[in-house]
Amino acid sequence: MKAYLKVCHHRGARLQNEPCGKARTFSCPYHSWTYGLDGKLRGMPHPAGFEGVDRSQLGLVELPAWERFGLIWVMPSVPDHEIDIDAWLAPMAEQPTNLDLGSHFVFRKWELPKNMSWRLLLEGFQESYHFCHAHSTTACAGYLDNQSVHYNYGPHVRHSLPRPNIEALRGKPKEKWYYRPYFLTQNYLFPANFVQVQNDHVYIHTVIPTGTGTCVFQCMMLTPEEPKTEKALKYYSKNYDLIRVVFEEDFVIGEGIQKGLNSGANTGFTFGKYECGLQFGQNAIDAALEGRLKI
Ligand code: FES
Ligand SMILES: [Fe+2]
Repeated sequence: MKAYLKVCHHRGARLQNEPCGKARTFSCPYHSWTYGLDGKLRGMPHPAGFEGVDRSQLGLVELPAWERFGLIWVMPSVPDHEIDIDAWLAPMAEQPTNLDLGSHFVFRKWELPKNMSWRLLLEGFQESYHFCHAHSTTACAGYLDNQSVHYNYGPHVRHSLPRPNIEALRGKPKEKWYYRPYFLTQNYLFPANFVQVQNDHVYIHTVIPTGTGTCVFQCMMLTPEEPKTEKALKYYSKNYDLIRVVFEEDFVIGEGIQKGLNSGANTGFTFGKYECGLQFGQNAIDAALEGRLKI
């Protein structure tokens, strides 16, 4: 597994614009410097113009990359020390490991630029206090109003929302309790990912800051297998359509909050007890900013 910044070492042109595909080499569109899959500079037109330049110093910048839980993880900057990814993910590893995501099918994949801080976008997934208000005609009916279980696995946070059918567990022995049919679980993997576990499919979110008040939201909807029947296709499509509406309800509010922040009306927010997931998330960000969080 290898990951590189797609930035040409000559004069910085972008090597690739395709989001995915297969290639044996990467050729720069500007002056056709060419790089191998090992990131090394393989060739350039009219090399006489670069006589004496050490080509071994002109390879692509490599980023740390790993495969864990069937997902590819890339650190988007070059660290100054070795990263122990397993130690980092360990507090949250149990649930994503048991989901067997590597055998899932990417049913839908989308990306949305948003005019809101990445932190505001995270907040929509860290509490359920807003569900029956912001999602009154969509997600509200699917969950018990304002009921959440938060686990602080610092810096990661697990947020589980019980569904009304959880009543069926009353009186059943604890060994028979299994979370998945009865909870929506939002596993926040610090700093920028969620593994959101639904009853029979999973969403993977990545929230990428692009400026102080802008970010990009990327999402994949994973189904246990490729839908093979019309019925299965309809079922997952309906879930996809609904989640797009629900997420958009959050994003419209989030972009409004960003505008409000820009106005200077608020210098801080008030987190209530039901919103402790936000508190845990904010504590982790504070720790990272103050250098207390070691990767
Ligand atoms: S910038 Fe890439 S070859 Fe010139
Ligand atoms: Fe929401």
